[in-house]
Amino acid sequence: MRIDILTILPKLLESPLSDSIMKRAQEKGHLELHIHNIRDYSEQKQKSVDDYQYGGGAGMVMMCQPIADCIEKLQSEREYDAIIYMTPDGKRLNQVTCNHLSSFQNIMILCGHYKGVDQRIRDLYITNEISIGDYVLSGGELGAAVLVDAVVRLIPGVINDETSALTDSFQDNLLAPPVYTRPEDYKGTKVPSILLSGDSKKIEDWRNEQALKRTQEKRPDLLKE
Ligand code: ADE
Repeated sequence: MRIDILTILPKLLESPLSDSIMKRAQEKGHLELHIHNIRDYSEQKQKSVDDYQYGGGAGMVMMCQPIADCIEKLQSEREYDAIIYMTPDGKRLNQVTCNHLSSFQNIMILCGHYKGVDQRIRDLYITNEISIGDYVLSGGELGAAVLVDAVVRLIPGVINDETSALTDSFQDNLLAPPVYTRPEDYKGTKVPSILLSGDSKKIEDWRNEQALKRTQEKRPDLLKE
């Protein structure tokens, strides 16, 4: 998968996407990541990328020209399956959307700042508007990093253990069951004996029960979906 991210703060994205699983995904050729500085496309004297909003009011708006030029340059080079805008008023990100996006070849992600981007960019180019939660971040970059991480780990081959991503929380609208590692007894609290039984059928049944119980307790809304 190729992902192009358009931002005015490239540094904010470089670190979270160049370590651990995202690093390995790139080394193994599953992910080709390109980060573009929108400022490089500005035709303004000071390389500015924002301006006052029409109608007045506090806060600057990211102007059309640099963003449109960057998007159009990329579009002239390849076709994009999705051009995503990270925004708190977008559709709330969930595992279903991540699964869907993980099957795409080329994705572009636009990160907003200030009051956001000129509405005409959204109208002319954007195919999906995504929010990572009901709170406002200073910009779309951290949201984009979350989105890329959640999507890329689902690409077959990115995670070593193929089944691992499939047993994550949310994959079947259930939270994941509790997990344990050594020692068997920690400060008097013991690992549930069934996990030491070696009976894989019983262990699977126990994990399913625990997943259901945990979901009922912590996220009953998921069971209604
Ligand atoms: N930009 C600012 N807040 C955001 C949010 N909650 N999700 C995605 N992008 C954002």
